[in-house]
Amino acid sequence: MTMTFTDIYMPPRLLAPGGTPAGYATHQQRYGPVSYGNPAHLLRTLAESGLTGRGGAAFPTYRKLGAVAEAGRRTGRAPVVVGNGAEGEPASHKDRTLLRLSPHLVLDGLQLAAEAVGAGEAYLAVEDGATPLETALTERRDPLPVRIVRVPKRFLSGQSSALAQYISGQAALPRDQHPPVREQGVRRAPTLVQNVETLAHLALIARYGADWFRSQGTPAEPGSALCTVYAPGREVRVVEAPFGMPLHRLLPLDGVGAVLTGGYHGTWLTAAEAATRTLTAADLGAGVLIALPADRCGLADTADVLRYLALESAGQCGPCLNGLPRIAAAFRTLAAPGPQGTSRRDVARWAGLVEGRGACHHPDGTVRLVRSAFTTFAAELDAHAAGHCTAADRRPLLPVPENRS
Ligand SMILES: Cc1cc2nc3c(=O)[nH]c(=O)nc-3n(C[C@H](O)[C@H](O)[C@H](O)COP(=O)(O)O)c2cc1C
Ligand code: SF4
Repeated sequence: MTMTFTDIYMPPRLLAPGGTPAGYATHQQRYGPVSYGNPAHLLRTLAESGLTGRGGAAFPTYRKLGAVAEAGRRTGRAPVVVGNGAEGEPASHKDRTLLRLSPHLVLDGLQLAAEAVGAGEAYLAVEDGATPLETALTERRDPLPVRIVRVPKRFLSGQSSALAQYISGQAALPRDQHPPVREQGVRRAPTLVQNVETLAHLALIARYGADWFRSQGTPAEPGSALCTVYAPGREVRVVEAPFGMPLHRLLPLDGVGAVLTGGYHGTWLTAAEAATRTLTAADLGAGVLIALPADRCGLADTADVLRYLALESAGQCGPCLNGLPRIAAAFRTLAAPGPQGTSRRDVARWAGLVEGRGACHHPDGTVRLVRSAFTTFAAELDAHAAGHCTAADRRPLLPVPENRS
């Protein structure tokens, strides 16, 4: 898929200008030196900056670093740091774009985070087949060697406990969240898993400070974020935008029926709702914004995504084993015009049963998508029940990879 970088909403912070990958010399020239040696100062600056994670949950970064450092002191085990570039979300391209264009910003952030938590090992997890990063590593003289780990290209591979399992030599599947990865992750050591975009922001905050970071965004949600943007009739773009920017500036809404924010664990909005919204961390989720043209069927697209999510779960827990396949199958019935039996009620009931009951948040994210589809496509649901579909174009729009068992 081709990317263009013509949409500039702010002075670029993370992506090398012109779409040209930055080697180490260019990187140093552009951003200047990083100063190591004062982890306590870095933690304070991160707290003041208000940086939150860009992997989907928007958790305050300084709190996670503080908790991992504390777990290391308490247990006497040197923590492990993992840069998360797995990008399991099929519609997202932001992390691989960042790693391709600005690998050294991510690697600076990884070293700084490692120093801040007192880590003894560092890994950078990337999806299998990603741009080689070995050259970038050989250009540097880092205090802590970084090992590149190539994770299977699956939806769950980037979940933090799945990553920790994979690096420990197991399958890349989530495990029970107790104890959490920050206490016991890679080979049971306290482990910091941080999205690669978060690390790149961290590397800039360490250089330029909290006030600089806060000069973009809003007081409540400072800074900027990378978004993968799907607008009708345009190439897929990865852009950097400040929090608080109106969504309609990122995504032209003419001829658009609905917008999916946050990716496949995200939320459908009607175009009218999207027109009133600004970019927030909650809406941004995994950094994906998709405009669905008004002549497409959002129910058909949602059904395809739900089938994909159900098959990706690996069925380790009840909600995924029993709930998600049922929800996906009943939703498929709703996506086709014709008799629907009890499918609508069944989906609503099963959604309530699986929510909050998995070892990880996969069922919760899936339920979020289902519930928002019910609200946003309520008129289409009624039309399908009455035997017709309002969409002129029933081709799928959302990218859904083939599931592999
Ligand atoms: C099902 C599932 C899949 C996830 N996939 C990714 C992913 O591909 N990349 C990522 O950075 N975070 C992913 N996450 C979030 C991670 O578990 C973790 O919270 C994140 O990497 C922490 O980094 P951050 O605080 O910098 O966002 C996923 C979470 C879930 C529940
Ligand atoms: S909730 Fe689903 S995806 Fe998460 S660990 Fe359990 S079976 Fe796997």
